Amino acid sequence: MTGTATAFALLDLLAIALFITGLHFLNAPPTARFGNRLAMVGMLIALVVVLVGTLNAGWWTIAIGIVAGGLIGIVAAALVKMTAMPQMVALYNGAGGGAAALVSTVELAVVHQKAAALDPVVAVSLVLSAMIGAISFAGSLVAFAKLQELMTGRPVTYPGQQGVNAIVALAIALLLAFFIARLGAVPTWEYPGLVLASLIFGVLFVLPIGGADMPVVISLLNSATGVAVAITGIELSSTLLITGGALVGASGTILTVAMSKAMNRSLTNVLFGAFGSAGGAEPAAASGAQQNVRSVSVDDVAAMLAYASKVMVVPGYGMAVAQAQHSVKALADQLEKRGVTVLYAIHPVAGRMPGHMNVLLAEANVPYEALLDLDDANAQFPTTDVSLVIGANDVTNPAARNVKSSPIYGMPILDVDKAANVVVLKRSMRSGFAGIENPLYELPNCSMLFGDAKASVDALTAAVKEL
Ligand code: TAP
Repeated sequence: MTGTATAFALLDLLAIALFITGLHFLNAPPTARFGNRLAMVGMLIALVVVLVGTLNAGWWTIAIGIVAGGLIGIVAAALVKMTAMPQMVALYNGAGGGAAALVSTVELAVVHQKAAALDPVVAVSLVLSAMIGAISFAGSLVAFAKLQELMTGRPVTYPGQQGVNAIVALAIALLLAFFIARLGAVPTWEYPGLVLASLIFGVLFVLPIGGADMPVVISLLNSATGVAVAITGIELSSTLLITGGALVGASGTILTVAMSKAMNRSLTNVLFGAFGSAGGAEPAAASGAQQNVRSVSVDDVAAMLAYASKVMVVPGYGMAVAQAQHSVKALADQLEKRGVTVLYAIHPVAGRMPGHMNVLLAEANVPYEALLDLDDANAQFPTTDVSLVIGANDVTNPAARNVKSSPIYGMPILDVDKAANVVVLKRSMRSGFAGIENPLYELPNCSMLFGDAKASVDALTAAVKEL
C-alpha cells in the first residue's frame, strides 16, 4: 500500500469510528446533538477523502454534486416543518436508493466499455444493489407522495393485488437468475428489465399501505437503502460504503421492529394489513355515538391544575400540529412556580415519527429528566392529580386494554385514566390515526377542553396567572 493509500484508509477508519460513536451518543436525548455532530464530522471526512481520491477522475463533477447537494440539503432542512419530517426522510432515503442503483448501472457500463470480464462477486453485488436500490427509490417516492398528500393517504387496494405483486417479484427473481447465468454476455435486456421490474415492485409494494403507517415503511425502506449501499461498497471495494451502509441497514431494521412492537403490530400486518385506512391525513369524523362527554371551561381546568400537586402532560400528534410545545412549557413554568410537579408521559409512537414528542419538547427546553417513558409514566398515573392530554388520542385509548375487537387491542397505552382527573385538549370528537372512537372520553373522571391545542394552553396559562 502506498503512503497516500494508507492515509486514505486511516481517514476512512476515522470516519467509520465517528459514525459508530455518533450512533452511540444518539442513544440518549442529552447526548443526541453531540452524536449528530460527530457523525457530521465523519461524513465531512468521508466526502473530502472521496474528493481528493478522485482528483484525476473528473473531480469537478463531484465537487459540483457536493455543492448542489449540500445547498439543497441546507435549504430543505431549514424550511421543513417538524410535521413534514417523515416525508423529507422518505425523499432523502429514495435519493440514497436511487444513487446505489445508478452507481451499479455506471459500473456495469464501464466494465462493458472496457470489454473486461465481470468478476462473479462484483456481478452479483451489482445486480443486488441495483434491484434493492430501485425498489427503495420507487417505494420512497410513493411514501413521499402519500405523506405530502400528492395522492390519497389511504391504502390503494384492488382484487388480486397480492397475486400481481407475486408475479412482479417472480419476474425480478428470473431476471436476476438470467443475468448471473449469462455473465459473459452484454446484458442488453436483463439488466434494464430488472431495474424496471424493481421500480414497479417498489410502487406496488407501498400502494396498499395506509399513509399513517408510512413511518414504519420508510424505516424499512431506509434499511433496504443501507443494504443496497453496503453491497455497492463491495462492488467498489469501499470499506467506508460497506460499513456506512451496514450501519444504516441495521439501525433501520431495529427501528422498524421497535415501531411495530410499540404499536403491537407485526411487520406483516403493517405491510399487508391495509391498516390506518381511516387515519392520517383524512381522520374519521365522529360517528355521533359518543354522547356522554363532558365539556369544561378554561377557568375550571386552570383551577384544577393550579391546585394540583402532580400534573402529567400527555402530548400527542395534535400538539405537533398546533406547534404548542412552547406554550406547554410556559404553562408548566407557571404551574411549577405554584409548587405543582409537572411531568411528561411520552408514548413511543405518539405523533407520527420516532422521538417526535422528545424532539418538540427539547426544542421548547423542557428538561429531559421530566420526560417519562411508558412504563415509568404508567407507574406514576395512580398518584397523579391531573392527566393533561394535549392532542393525543390513540396512545391513551383504554380499548387497547380490554376491547378484543379493537384494531389497537394489545397496544401498550398510557394509563391516563388512572389519574384522579383527566382533561383532554382537542378540537372536536374526531378520531386519531387509527380511526376509532376513544372510550376514555366517556369516563366519569374525564372532561374535554375543545379548541386548538396552542390556543387552549395559552388561555390556561393566562388563567392560572390570574389565580
Ligand atoms: P392520534 O391518535 O393521531 O390523535 C391525534 C389527535 O390530535 C386527534 O384526535 C386530533 O383530534 C387532535 N388534534 C389534531 N390537531 C389538533 C390541534 N391543532 N389542536 C388540538 N388537537 C389536535 O395521535 P397520538 O395519540 O399521538 O397517536 C399516534 C398514532 O399514530 C398512533 O396510533 C400510532 O400508532 C400512529 N403512528 C405513530 C408513528 C410514530 S413513529 N410516532 C408512526 C406511525 C403511526 P381533533 O381533530 O378533534 O383535534
